[in-house]
Amino acid sequence: MGKILVTGGTGYIGSHTVVELLNHGYDVVIVDNLSNSKLEVLNRIEKITGKKPAFYQISVQNKEEMRQIFQKYDIDSVIHFAGLKSVKESVEKPELYRSNNIGSSRILLELMEEYGVNNLVFSSSATVYGVPKRVPLYETDPIGGCTNPYGQTKVDIELMLNEYAKTHPQANIAILRYFNPIGAHSSGLIGEDPQGIPNNLMPYITQVAVGKLPHLNVNGNDYKTVDGTGVRDYIHVVDLASGHLAALKKLEEKPGLVIYNLGTGKGTSVLELVHAFEKANHLVIPYVIAPRRPGDVDENYANCDKAWNEMHWKAKLNIEDACRDSWLWQSHNPHGYDED
Ligand code: NAD
Ligand code: UD1
Repeated sequence: MGKILVTGGTGYIGSHTVVELLNHGYDVVIVDNLSNSKLEVLNRIEKITGKKPAFYQISVQNKEEMRQIFQKYDIDSVIHFAGLKSVKESVEKPELYRSNNIGSSRILLELMEEYGVNNLVFSSSATVYGVPKRVPLYETDPIGGCTNPYGQTKVDIELMLNEYAKTHPQANIAILRYFNPIGAHSSGLIGEDPQGIPNNLMPYITQVAVGKLPHLNVNGNDYKTVDGTGVRDYIHVVDLASGHLAALKKLEEKPGLVIYNLGTGKGTSVLELVHAFEKANHLVIPYVIAPRRPGDVDENYANCDKAWNEMHWKAKLNIEDACRDSWLWQSHNPHGYDED
C-alpha cells in the first residue's frame, strides 16, 4: 500500500487524524508550512503512537517543492487539511485567504493529475451552507451565501472539485463538511492551540478555566433557541479524525465525488456547553452576556444519516467526553505547545 499524504498534518484536526492513521497501520507523509502549528506536534504524535511520520515544512502553494514529494513517494491518497481558517482574519485579508486556500487546492489537483493520484479527502465546513433555511442541514441543501471570505474559499474549492471530478472520471473525492470540532486526544498530549485570543467557543472556555482569560463573553442571548444562546453541532475531534479513515475506505470503492456532513446530529447551546464543561470538570466558568457576534446564526447542526448509511461512520463520543478531553489538554499544556 502506498502512502497517505496529509497536508496541514500538524494542525488541530490533522494531528488527530495522523494519530488515527498511524494507529491503523497507514504510512503517512505530512506537509505543513507551520503557519498555524508547531514542530512539537510531531514529538507528541510519536509519544502517542510510537511512530514518527515523514514531515516536510513546505507550503502547498509551492508547486516545485510539492512536486518533489509526489516524485519521491508512491502516494495512494491525499488528505487536504492545509488552509487558513480564521473568519475574522479572512475579512481583513481576503486575498491571502483566496490565494492560500484556493491556490493550494488547485496546485494539489494539478500534481495529483500529473502523478496519477486519484484519491482525495477535502476538509470543507458547515460554513458552506451560509445562513441555514432550516436545520438539520442535509448534504443536498444549497451551498453559498457565505458572509465571509473564509467560507467563500470553501465553497469555491468545492465547486473546483466538482469540476475536476467531471473531467476526471477516475478521480475519487470525499468532501467532508465538518461541523464544530472540539475536544482533544484522551492522552492530553495533542489538542487545539490557537494563537492569541481564541475566536472559537471551546478554546475560549478552556482559557478561562486555566486563568488566562477572566470570563467568557456569551455572544448574544436573544437567538431563537432553547435558551437564547447560539446552537451548534459540536463533534469530538477524535470522532472527526475517524471520519477520515471511513472516507479513505469509501474511496477504495471508487465512488467518484461524494459529500458527507461530519457532525453529531445534535445541537448544543453556548450555555449548555458551558454547563457541561463545568459538570465534567468540577469547575466554574464565569461568563457575561455580550452583544451578538456579526454573521452568527441561531442554529446550525447536521443530519449525519448519509455518513452512517454509506460509510458506516457516526460520532461515538459525547459533549462530556469532549469537555473532559479539552480540559485535560489545556490544563496539562497551559501555553499550548510552547514551553512556559
Ligand atoms: P489548523 O490551523 O490547526 O490546521 C491547518 C494547518 O494547515 C496548520 O498546521 C497550518 O500551518 C497549515 N497550513 C496552512 N496553510 C498552508 C499551506 N499553504 N501549506 C502548508 N500548510 C499550510 O486548522 P484545523 O482546525 O486543523 O483545520 C483543518 C482544516 O479543516 C482547514 O482546512 C479548516 O478550514 C477546516 N475546518 C476546520 C474547522 C474547525 O473548526 N477547526 C471547521 C471546518 C473546517
Ligand atoms: C465559527 C465560524 C465558522 C468556522 C467555525 C469553526 C464564524 C461566524 N463562523 O463557527 O466559519 O467554520 O467557527 O472554526 O465565526 N461564542 C460565544 N463566545 C465566544 C465564542 C463563541 O458566545 O467567545 C458562541 C458563538 O456566538 C456561537 C458559538 O459560541 O454561537 C460557537 O462559536 P464558534 O466556536 O466560533 O463556532 P461557529 O460560530 O459555529
